[in-house]
Amino acid sequence: MKRRDFLKGISLAAVGGALSGPVASAAGLLTSQSAEAGAPAPASDSVEPIKGLSPVRSLDPEVSRPVTVIIIGCGNRGRTYAGYAKKYPAGMKVVGVSDILDHRKDYLGDQHNVPPEMRFGHFREVFASGKKLADAVVIATPDDRHYEPCMKALDLGYDVLLEKPVAPTPKECTAIREKTKKTGRIVAVCHVLRYSPYFMAMREVIQSGAIGKVVSIQHMEPIQYAHMAHSYVRGNWRREDETTPIILAKSCHDLDILRWMIDKPCKHIAADGSLSFFKKENAPEGAPKYCTDGCPHQKECPYDAVEIYTHLKQHLGVFDLHGKKDPELILSRLKDPRYNSYARCVFHCDNDQPDHYVAEMVFDGDVTASFTMDAFSPKGGRRTRVMGTMGFIEGDMKEFIVTDFLTRTPKIWNMNVAEIPEYAKSGHGGGDLRLVRDWLEAVDRHDANHLSSSIDVSIESHLMGFAAERSRRSGKKEKILK
Ligand SMILES: NC(=O)c1ccc[n+]([C@@H]2O[C@H](COP(=O)([O-])OP(=O)(O)OC[C@H]3O[C@@H](n4cnc5c(N)ncnc54)[C@H](O)[C@@H]3O)[C@@H](O)[C@H]2O)c1
Repeated sequence: MKRRDFLKGISLAAVGGALSGPVASAAGLLTSQSAEAGAPAPASDSVEPIKGLSPVRSLDPEVSRPVTVIIIGCGNRGRTYAGYAKKYPAGMKVVGVSDILDHRKDYLGDQHNVPPEMRFGHFREVFASGKKLADAVVIATPDDRHYEPCMKALDLGYDVLLEKPVAPTPKECTAIREKTKKTGRIVAVCHVLRYSPYFMAMREVIQSGAIGKVVSIQHMEPIQYAHMAHSYVRGNWRREDETTPIILAKSCHDLDILRWMIDKPCKHIAADGSLSFFKKENAPEGAPKYCTDGCPHQKECPYDAVEIYTHLKQHLGVFDLHGKKDPELILSRLKDPRYNSYARCVFHCDNDQPDHYVAEMVFDGDVTASFTMDAFSPKGGRRTRVMGTMGFIEGDMKEFIVTDFLTRTPKIWNMNVAEIPEYAKSGHGGGDLRLVRDWLEAVDRHDANHLSSSIDVSIESHLMGFAAERSRRSGKKEKILK
């Protein structure tokens, strides 16, 4: 790509207001930063693609037979992972389902022709016979219901795909790690970003030595404002005591990615943050408890539930609509007592998760990292800058640019993962289904080396999250426990 074409893209994006997008990052690299800081101009007029990275493999697993799986928790994540079996039946077969909600259990059970005797309610029913009924289980229950089914599954000899966060306490997390070692089973933690082509490529560049020794990383996790309202103000993850602190519930992926990029243990962490906005004292006068009760501020409130769900049609997965998007139906769900917690005014919820969070970390070798999570952003995703002794990487989860300080020629990784047919519908930048593929291969060969997110490293990054939360509360720098 010629530099002038690239810059043309930049100006178009700027007109559209996408100043924090990929092209804006490149603009910083190629124009304003160079000019304003008086840095030497890039040596070349072109932005070369990065060459020589590992190819993106098919999602079809290389397994000797379909791995049989029981899905425990048939909500959003359970359905996502079960969906893999529909696409790749030679790799995975859903032979059992478990959910305390009958309609969810039966919906997924019907999709996969699960016989009645393999449709369980509470996860305890799955293990009640004391017999192993499949090769593996997927644990996609709420955060505070991972520990018990995981320990039971390991005791009975199942391999496990375990949703993050692993468990709400360091003690339970390390107990799962020890049980995994003792039983020798495969446990993959759903740190899905590790499996996305974007982060895999960025790590490969770092590991190749192309930017020298990594000295520091800045990593930002913007949470789209309606996503914040949906999940962390109104929804399942709104309270620390019912799930986990937001640094684990939302950002354990990010701590994990930092640990993975730097590839060294974190020594200590200092964090801060609070819930500043979504609380009663900020409610506008006369705002009713539910947005559906004729709120006089509806038109000027970006958090209005009616707008977010019925018009913008965001986050509809919680309403059991199975693909239907009729506004009247969505509105009736918002008024239905089974779902109306999502119609609550964002200032009248029982939430306590911080809406902004900062953390600074020091890793072995004095590598530093800074992390920010903010709820007030038009877009989600991640933004990352990696500072090396010989070069620099800047990316926004769609593309990243590597600048070598010697050649000063920027190189770009901008594979459009959504355009790769197999990856198109795989969430988290392609990571969701790729994780399942690697897990199935690990189970089939009984070899945890197929996993990037094995239990040991996953627990380590969880312990970073617990330390961050201790620091946020104590105001002190905290060591990472073992
Ligand atoms: N890896 C990721 O990127 C990612 C993304 C979103 C959520 N998650 C995690 O995945 C997990 C599930 O999230 P979700 O969005 O699917 O939630 P969800 O509420 O949609 O699904 C959870 C399901 O578990 C069922 N359940 C509750 N208690 C149960 C029990 N005792 N036995 C059997 N089933 C039970 C619920 O009825 C529900 O259907 C959570 O831990 C969440 O934090 C991970």
